[in-house]
Amino acid sequence: MTQEELFKALISHAKEYGFIFPSSEIYDGLSAVYDYGQLGVELKNNIKKYWWDAMVRLNENIVGIDSAIFMHPRIWEASGHVGAFNDPLIDNKDSKKRYRADVLLEDYLAKLEEKENKEVEKGRRKFGEAFDEEQFRATNPNVLRQRNKIEAVRAKMVAALEANDLKALRDLIIECEIACPISGSKNWTDVRQFNLMFSTQLGSVSDESGTIYLRPETAQGIFVNFLNVQKTGRMKIPFGIAQIGKAFRNEIVARQFIFRMREFEQMEMQFFVRPGEEMKWYEQWKQTRLAWHKALGLGEDKYRYHDHEKLAHYANAACDIEFDFPFGFKELEGIHSRTDFDLGNHQKFSGRKIQYFDPETNESYVPYVIETSIGLDRTFLAVYSAAYCEEQLADGEQRVVLRLPAALSPVKAAVMPLVKKDGLPELAREIMRDLKFDFNCQYDEKDSIGKRYRRQDAIGTPFCITVDHQSLEDRCVTVRHRDSMNQERVPIDALRAMIADEVSFRKLFEKLG
Ligand code: GAP
Repeated sequence: MTQEELFKALISHAKEYGFIFPSSEIYDGLSAVYDYGQLGVELKNNIKKYWWDAMVRLNENIVGIDSAIFMHPRIWEASGHVGAFNDPLIDNKDSKKRYRADVLLEDYLAKLEEKENKEVEKGRRKFGEAFDEEQFRATNPNVLRQRNKIEAVRAKMVAALEANDLKALRDLIIECEIACPISGSKNWTDVRQFNLMFSTQLGSVSDESGTIYLRPETAQGIFVNFLNVQKTGRMKIPFGIAQIGKAFRNEIVARQFIFRMREFEQMEMQFFVRPGEEMKWYEQWKQTRLAWHKALGLGEDKYRYHDHEKLAHYANAACDIEFDFPFGFKELEGIHSRTDFDLGNHQKFSGRKIQYFDPETNESYVPYVIETSIGLDRTFLAVYSAAYCEEQLADGEQRVVLRLPAALSPVKAAVMPLVKKDGLPELAREIMRDLKFDFNCQYDEKDSIGKRYRRQDAIGTPFCITVDHQSLEDRCVTVRHRDSMNQERVPIDALRAMIADEVSFRKLFEKLG
């Protein structure tokens, strides 16, 4: 199965099993907006819990807040979002379709890279065992030509973006003869800046003074509450404030399912430190956050750092943790050293003194900030895509299994009477009544036991518990494990401890050190 086919399969699986639905589907959907279904919301809540507890509960110097989505409009001037939260857009005059100019160029570069790789594969086929890829890439004229072209276009694109030169971006699109994927025409408008914030009106007056924005990041709700939390929580630097919440961006190019949405959730933490110590903390948070990802056990090679060469105006260091999604390595989390830019600007724009008196140095200062910012929906996609598996079984059957980390599984156990009679449902219900106080469980008595196992495999349930006639005599049940498909007899009284051990978050936290 190609990566593209796999991606399509998991999107339909997510819908078929109640994880994710397109928003407003009965009205033909709303682009780049999705709803989480009955199982999706459970998985999402478990991811949130893993993040929240790892950040807030396990760190004595990090506390959480939940700030409002609507905020004073001046906040977005202070943060730079009104002036600079833009993407360069371009329209095709024939199809009337709108694109991000840099994405058109990135797609063009990806195609060139594909051609380059095809040349390499040709070489591999031709030379067989003796093939030396490094040498081939360094000497083959077709590959070298392609590489030079890629590097030249990339250099021009980066220069144009850095200089904010919209004309140069358009000229490059024309020079590369990029055509609209819909109309096939090269009839482009000028490139314009497009602000990504959604705006709306506060109250009943619809003039400019009432314009407010849906927050494009949760971070600003933390910055403007810095003094409130520091004073009421008697927090001492270094300390952090964490928050999980919705963010909104009017993305021009919204695609790749829940990877790029117009309404999404972020899990952000701002860590306030002494000026001059930010690099030490930046390095520490890079390590800490990568360890959090890896503890999930989705595969060490699924993650990599990508250091930013071009820094945002407020940052003195920044990197992404990238994940190997079905469409390649892409940003999952950002770690930014944001200096004193945000607090400093809020001090300027609000006219309020936002400083911290450091009892150790006897000085007052505007703290520096290390931010960790991860998309909840992207984490969902990372976990889901790594867990999704179509498996050929020894008996010739096929199964789809979600190999989710057990702590994140939406349903922890399914309780099933072998048949719907002879007192088996009653005993199964008794087990269900006991387990549901601790775990999200499903009761299932429909269809053959094999079909019921498949249903639970497909939603990632770690345990299937079958009650049979013997259970009535020895009060033992058959427990079937999702990944190994092994079965064992377990006393009913031992079920709770067995499940608790397997699905506990503690196991994940212990890996964090
Ligand atoms: N406060 C910093 C900030 O917002 P960002 O890199 O723009 O930084 C942080 O966003 C994270 O939010 C990203 O790493 C990504 O996981 C998630 N994210 C950003 N835009 C998104 C979108 N349109 N859809 C889904 N997730 C998004």
